[in-house]
Amino acid sequence: MASAASDGDDTLAEAARRRTFAIISHPDAGKTTLTEKFLLYGGAVAEAGAVKARAGARRARSDWMALERQRGISITSTVLQFSYRGHVLNLLDTPGHRDFSEDTYRVLTAVDAAVMVLDSARGIEAQTRKLFEVCRAQNLPVITFLNKYDRPGLDPLELVDDIESQIGLRPTPVTWPVGTAGDFRGVLDRRHGDLVRFLRTAHGATTAHEERIPAARARAEEGDAWVRAEEGCHLLDEVGATYDRATFLAGESSPLFVGSAITNFGVRHLLDAVVDLAPAPGPRIDDTGRPRPLDAGFSAFVFKIQANMNPAHRDHVAFVRVCSGRFERGSTPIHATTGRPFATKYAAAMFGAERATVDVAYPGDVIGLVNASDLRIGDSLYLGEPVTFPRLVTFAPELFATARNRDSSRAKQFRRGLERLEQEGTVQVLSDPGGDPAPVLGAVGPMQFEVAAYRLIHEFGASVELEPSAYSAARRTDLATAAALRSVPGTRILARSDGSLLALFESPYRLVRLAGDHPDWCLEPLVGAGL
Ligand code: G4P
Repeated sequence: MASAASDGDDTLAEAARRRTFAIISHPDAGKTTLTEKFLLYGGAVAEAGAVKARAGARRARSDWMALERQRGISITSTVLQFSYRGHVLNLLDTPGHRDFSEDTYRVLTAVDAAVMVLDSARGIEAQTRKLFEVCRAQNLPVITFLNKYDRPGLDPLELVDDIESQIGLRPTPVTWPVGTAGDFRGVLDRRHGDLVRFLRTAHGATTAHEERIPAARARAEEGDAWVRAEEGCHLLDEVGATYDRATFLAGESSPLFVGSAITNFGVRHLLDAVVDLAPAPGPRIDDTGRPRPLDAGFSAFVFKIQANMNPAHRDHVAFVRVCSGRFERGSTPIHATTGRPFATKYAAAMFGAERATVDVAYPGDVIGLVNASDLRIGDSLYLGEPVTFPRLVTFAPELFATARNRDSSRAKQFRRGLERLEQEGTVQVLSDPGGDPAPVLGAVGPMQFEVAAYRLIHEFGASVELEPSAYSAARRTDLATAAALRSVPGTRILARSDGSLLALFESPYRLVRLAGDHPDWCLEPLVGAGL
């Protein structure tokens, strides 16, 4: 049996090998394609094409995901683990639609870096700006990939400007396109100044061939295309848009790579950047502000809960990110919220919706705890020295709907369904302590309501009607401010299940005016336990 000291060494070495990251993108920018290509480069799939097939199988098995299919959106996220260059990569997928930006936010609390994929013909799209802002707000290191360069697109300098002006992230290109979008020959790699020429493979099913060509030869062979790339790079040099580790790690600048996921151009550069530039898991800060050493006892926190991933079992999976120590299946860590031991017999590694039992895991890894119905988002688990990680914040909802039970004989289904949806963070469920007993649902995007209504009906067997409400802004408040607000027309005070109070406003302008007139009032944009 290994000694405690060698376990610690093992944990540190394993943590150092890990890169835990997410891909964020607007729908259709190429996230699925890129994920598949990462797996191809990591040797986890032999030929591109497997992920989409897998995604198809997953969707076919899960009933509420029918909604995803109808709407062509991705709501559920998956966790993939694969190896690359002796490292273990944990790739957490995020929903691509802004309506689910809160889900994205939660996934981003569990990663150490993000890859932001942009379609080079579209740049940053208004609809998804919010997702990128969420990423930016967490000060996460972000690597940018300008995808689809095989097709006509925008001028790369314009794209760089857009990223900086629209989300305040300063791109520092590491590779720069040679040839215009649509006539993409390769990239000028600014680290050595040579051309990396890409050669197509049939349907991008196998890794792209690359040829490194010294600058002088590149100039002779590529002519104008090379000269323009060099000019672009001079401009970048002049404005100081050059990779800088400190600002990258602080989430202020973003190394940028250019490529085309479909032809595999630039995919290796990007995956190398994940390994070489993205940070390995580090000690996580607990709720007292102290870092939990990586080699301390096992600890983890719940960042996502998903029910009915497999409708045949109607089960409930809590996704936890390991923060410290070595996880062993069958161990019984303490659930910090209740102080009770938690059995981990059914720990699973998730590959999409497919499961394999996981016996051991290290910092940076994600484990799915099956049938963990006591766990809530943000809960901590630990062995050894107790630790509680900070609760995850919740966004102030911007849309509201009153949920009415239309069939009193199914009141129980209605109540249980709402409880579950709130627990999973699908919608916020608010109540009016002294008023209308019908709960009010709060959301950031309208599709959250669609998902909630669909699931209440199809999954929980409830009969529900959602009545849109006139309120359009909310702030967390306290008892004193709530008392003052009760006499203000166009406002309403509701309670969250954790006991905190939310003030609702019919118009965001009224909210801004009231906040300006009463600077002493408590009107906080982030809600949620622990604040
Ligand atoms: P998403 O997960 O971000 O929503 O995007 P996804 O990978 O599904 O890609 C969206 C569409 O863009 C797909 O086409 C895909 O083939 C295409 N695509 C992805 N990367 C590239 C690229 O580098 N260049 C070009 N030209 N196209 C790319 P589709 O027609 O919607 O689907 P499919 O029939 O090709 O599967």
